[in-house]
Amino acid sequence: MIDYRRLRVALLGAGSVGSQVADLLLAHSDELADRAGAALELAGIAVRDLDAPRDVELPRDLLTTDADTLIVGSDIVIELMGGIEPARSHILAALNSGADVVTGNKALLATHGAEIFDAADQVGASVYYEAAVAGAIPIIRPLRDSLAGDRVQRIMGIVNGTTNYILDRMDSEGAEMADILADAQRLGYAEADPTTDIEGFDAAQKAAILASLAFHTSVPLDAVHREGITSITKAEMDAARHAGYVIKLLAVCERVTGRDVDEAISVRVYPALIRRDHPLASVHGVNNAVFVEAEAAGNLMFYGAGAGGVQTASAVLGDVVSAARRHIAGGAGVGESTRANLPVLDIGHVVTRYQVTLEVDDRPGVLARVAGILSEGRVSIATVEQTIQPGPDGTAGTGSARLVIGTHKAVEQDLDETVQRLAADDVVVRVVSVLRVEGD
Ligand code: NDP
Ligand code: HSE
Repeated sequence: MIDYRRLRVALLGAGSVGSQVADLLLAHSDELADRAGAALELAGIAVRDLDAPRDVELPRDLLTTDADTLIVGSDIVIELMGGIEPARSHILAALNSGADVVTGNKALLATHGAEIFDAADQVGASVYYEAAVAGAIPIIRPLRDSLAGDRVQRIMGIVNGTTNYILDRMDSEGAEMADILADAQRLGYAEADPTTDIEGFDAAQKAAILASLAFHTSVPLDAVHREGITSITKAEMDAARHAGYVIKLLAVCERVTGRDVDEAISVRVYPALIRRDHPLASVHGVNNAVFVEAEAAGNLMFYGAGAGGVQTASAVLGDVVSAARRHIAGGAGVGESTRANLPVLDIGHVVTRYQVTLEVDDRPGVLARVAGILSEGRVSIATVEQTIQPGPDGTAGTGSARLVIGTHKAVEQDLDETVQRLAADDVVVRVVSVLRVEGD
């Protein structure tokens, strides 16, 4: 048996992920030592309540409510408490004491990432956060290391398992959103406050992290445009399927050329239509996937479990091994690369395709009128499908018509103003929906 140098590991949090990390650290200590080149000694596990029920049985003598003392003298601190405070203060204290930090805390990194990475730079420590985006899926390391020599053009990610689970079941079973959300909560996919999932906050945090890495730019959370899935109806799902699309909540991070700037980025989260033959369309259930388009590498897709205690623990332990190897090798950690410092354009500058569904009067000249408004707004029509809804007496020409208009690429601001003009026009009964079309 090799007499490895011992590294002291402090674990903060023993919930869904933390308890599994502790279990695996203890169960596989010999293998992990061989891989890391150091013995990883779990010095303690900080929790809120020593008597709380745990997913796995943990040695009682490792549990403590005193995280501050546990951190002192540790070589690696694993933060799996979640939330902003006290996680932020503990991470800063760990870095300032010379420890490397492993965290899965997307909410913290998306809001206080710059402060944390600066603190790590100051002392030459490293922060590892593979678990913060898409659970078990390796995507942080591929963006940070494997693709460091390439230029990422675009990322489209399904990065929230709860919303994918909901939309997938709405698509496949025709079920209503509220019923499926209850299942997602029961199965433990959703955040404690499910608004975080269904209103797109969780995906926006992950988009900010992905865009920062991919474009070597510090992207603040408030620069991410965010829309959730609560407006998506079963009728829209059916219409999407009929037209050969599926609706997914996408995190889109894109390198773009703006009207006034040579190079900028756009980071946005919204439900969008993608063609059913796109690789992201086949991401079902609670799974996540990140589709990366890079200049030299071409298209890459990273797929797997985006949540779950033991699955996410795999990503955490990979980071712990990396942190241990770095600690043994010595020298300063590799800081975050943010030197490109590209401007983040607002949603109004986004250029994409749209599908606009209108309910209009069924009378002569209506189609021409709608086409005219779109043309005046610089929105070019690609496809139109009309379905007649007869009037009360069953006669065509007395009721309304549903128009599903697919556009060519248009600027969001132009599209938005055009939709407002359509909504205000006499021939339009109502704007049923406006959805972006991504991925082609
Ligand atoms: P849980 O809520 O299940 O667990 C949180 C743990 O932290 C609990 O053990 C809790 O103690 C402890 N804790 C919370 N606040 C304090 C405090 N003030 N002092 C001491 N201990 C505290 O969270 P998860 O395991 O689900 O998530 C952990 C992190 O991983 C989060 O940042 C999350 O976003 C991220 N993540 C989670 C995924 C998942 O599938 N669950 C997937 C990817 C990332 P006690 O048990 O005593 O209450
Ligand atoms: N609630 C999150 C999800 C957990 O559904 O993806 C993983 O971050």
